[in-house]
Amino acid sequence: MSDTLLEVKGLATEFKHGKKNWISAVSDVSFEVRPGEIVGLVGESGCGKSVTSLSVMRLHRKDTTRISGDIIFEGKHLLELSDRDMQAIRGNEISMIFQEPMSALDPIMRIGDQLAEALTLHTDLSKKEVHERSVEVLRQVGIPEPEMTLRNYPHELSGGMCQRVMIAMAMSCEPRLLIADEPTTALDVTIQAQILALMEKIRRENNTGILLITHDLGVVAETCSRVIVMYAGHVVEEAPVDELFKHPQHPYTQGLIASVPRLGERLRRLPSIPGSVPDLAAMPDGCRFAPRCRYAQERCRCNDPVLHEVSPDHTSACLLSEQEREEVAHA
Ligand SMILES: Nc1ncnc2c1ncn2[C@@H]1O[C@H](COP(=O)(O)OP(=O)(O)OP(=O)(O)O)[C@@H](O)[C@H]1O
Ligand SMILES: [Mg+2]
Repeated sequence: MSDTLLEVKGLATEFKHGKKNWISAVSDVSFEVRPGEIVGLVGESGCGKSVTSLSVMRLHRKDTTRISGDIIFEGKHLLELSDRDMQAIRGNEISMIFQEPMSALDPIMRIGDQLAEALTLHTDLSKKEVHERSVEVLRQVGIPEPEMTLRNYPHELSGGMCQRVMIAMAMSCEPRLLIADEPTTALDVTIQAQILALMEKIRRENNTGILLITHDLGVVAETCSRVIVMYAGHVVEEAPVDELFKHPQHPYTQGLIASVPRLGERLRRLPSIPGSVPDLAAMPDGCRFAPRCRYAQERCRCNDPVLHEVSPDHTSACLLSEQEREEVAHA
């Protein structure tokens, strides 16, 4: 038995564009999540993080989406499963915390009924046990009066409270794999710390593998053991967390890390990466980061980079070697 929980190989997701055309949102995306590890997935807005996670969950609209590649969860090829088999896995063995909590909660159902529905569908708990478990998970995510919250409708709660309910729902069935898409962005720092601590707890106690999608490199540094960096629909770098922060190899990763304010350096103007993520309909040839890269050479604009090992366990998709980049910097 392999020790991989989720293996994504050569994932490509395309969306229908106009009547006949398809547009590629992510391509050639490969990564793994092992049991009991938290893997960070980072990159600027529009890089394909949510598209990737929704593809793993098979939650894109079928008529306007084409997904190819392999998504293997505990030996099962998810893209080959029937809708019914996939539904049995979703919310049970694989759970997801969605980026938009309001869109994932049913507005006309009480919180308690939604939690109960998820728990009854995937467990054989009695009605009383479902209630007890619901109260327990709401308390775990820092909801002060769980009994009352169970009787509320989503619109009666703040955005932060809805997010916590979503997290409670995702964790209630003790999934093998948890995909958390910006789970704490809408929450204040104290709650954020509580939620991250809770994720760490379920990782430790249940050996849950977690794919944590976030903009926040501070959160990544504190919680993840490995990090995947995406840019314009591709993985551009992957490394253990310490290695990534100490020796980032891809100029995009270097730019992301340089943009993070360090303690005590708040007043310094942050060097942000110039330019913006390219439009899906107008992807540049060659390296997609080249138009924004201070090291870019002619060959970067015509050759497609591939992810390659730069040191053990560390891959990067920059076409230039570290030495070549240094030469460009000093030229
Ligand atoms: N259903 C869809 N149809 C067409 N294009 C889509 C669809 N969903 C996402 N996209 C496009 O795919 C690209 C990647 O989007 P995605 O939501 O994965 O970004 P992201 O990395 O999650 O960004 P953010 O950090 O803002 O959440 C974007 O250009 C987005 O507009
Ligand atoms: Mg997203």
